[in-house]
Amino acid sequence: MQPCDFVVFGAHGDLATRKLVPSLYQLDKAGLLEPDLRIVGVARREMALDEYLALARESLTTFMKEPVDAQVWERFAGRLRYVCLDLASHDQYSKLREIIDPVKRVMVNYCAVPPSIYGDICRGLAQAGLVTPQTRVVLEKPLGTDLASSKVINDAVAQFFKEEQVYRIDHYLGKETVLNLVALRFANSIFTTNWDNTTIDHVQITVAEEVGIEGRWGYFDKSGQLRDMVQNHLLQILSLVAMEPPVTLGSESIRNEKLKVLKALRPITKDNIEEKTVRGQYAAGFLKGGPVPGYHEEEAGNPRSFTETFVALRVDIDNWRWAGVPFYLRTGKRMTKKLSEVVIYFKRLPHNIFRESYKNLPSNKLIIRLQPNEGVEIEMLNKVPGIGSGVKLQRTTLDLSFSEAFESAHVADAYERLLLSALEGSQSLFIRRDEVEQAWTWIDSIQDAWRTSNDAPMPYPAGTWGPVASVALMARDGRAWDE
Ligand code: BG6
Repeated sequence: MQPCDFVVFGAHGDLATRKLVPSLYQLDKAGLLEPDLRIVGVARREMALDEYLALARESLTTFMKEPVDAQVWERFAGRLRYVCLDLASHDQYSKLREIIDPVKRVMVNYCAVPPSIYGDICRGLAQAGLVTPQTRVVLEKPLGTDLASSKVINDAVAQFFKEEQVYRIDHYLGKETVLNLVALRFANSIFTTNWDNTTIDHVQITVAEEVGIEGRWGYFDKSGQLRDMVQNHLLQILSLVAMEPPVTLGSESIRNEKLKVLKALRPITKDNIEEKTVRGQYAAGFLKGGPVPGYHEEEAGNPRSFTETFVALRVDIDNWRWAGVPFYLRTGKRMTKKLSEVVIYFKRLPHNIFRESYKNLPSNKLIIRLQPNEGVEIEMLNKVPGIGSGVKLQRTTLDLSFSEAFESAHVADAYERLLLSALEGSQSLFIRRDEVEQAWTWIDSIQDAWRTSNDAPMPYPAGTWGPVASVALMARDGRAWDE
């Protein structure tokens, strides 16, 4: 790696303290940071370096499960710098130019601030002569709230940075098990040859959260679960499950294939919105034995808000591989438990010779558990051992738990992997502009149809799997959610 400086805009913010500083520390601990890499915190607040060090140390003690190692901390603290500047004042970026030579060093600029400021940061950097071909910019979501607003953000960045310098984060792409989807599909012949509409009946993708909106009403109420989770995380998972084999693992190969899937998504419009989507909003309920407030009762909540906290969708992919294979997506806040999984339901057998034991043979299932308890399961039927007459079948599970199979002291957080990739200059785990825009095009059509119908989301008690209408969405197709 070339000598590098990692600059965090928004050094006091939640993302920087909760995720970025602990992840950089872990990379340092693992010996993955170049010895002379510097981490420059940037924010408007005046602060002496000592105070910034104290803030960084506090974020490590607060957000890491393990104690801070004194030796690693000493090395890590030696990398930290702090620059105070007003991000909207472009002339102040010269303060960064005083300590960074962007010709001799790679400058990775992480925008951990609201997207409305991305354009200012890029302009400020350019004005201070800090943008060279090796300067990079890392952008956090949300990249807009629809196609038009995402174009405004991307255009503002593109004035100063070429696409190969822009790293758009979707932290799900840094998750071990999401990456494993590619390994599972393309390193195992049993799956490469059994992954289309001749063998697969349907696919379910669930991302259920226990948390509510965690004090983020201001952001979330304007966004809702469709834009907050489906536009990015769920569509990225779906693309990895559905894409054609990429030619290589290179970033353009993978991103080209994901884009093709996004382009093949059948639009959901006002004509089919009712049969293809369910919107829910949590009401007061119980989680882990304790009462939790409903969405309207959240701090600073608005009792008239129609914002959805749950979405279920039937998605069709119009291409040769997936014709006739629906993908069912659901995601919600305040659900029964935190669980993200992809379940592949294989087709039923055309004929059953075991009718005495099993009237309707259940289909095989491949369950890819993304979080928690990461792992892969295959559900299949086996003969119950015994010498009695007839063959008795029983449903059994081949269960591969990653924590048991791969002994590893430290499971890397998604941000560790993503920060390392950005430092190494590899874009394969980051989203390309055309992917973001294609995803927005598809989401906008749903959002427009909901707006036209102006129906309130269906209430569901916190601590459940969402509105019963989501069960009905599957039942209409003769299917049920994996429980
Ligand atoms: C974020 C969303 O992108 O992902 C949050 O803005 C959501 O609303 C979070 O809670 C979920 O991430 P994870 O890694 O906890 O599944």
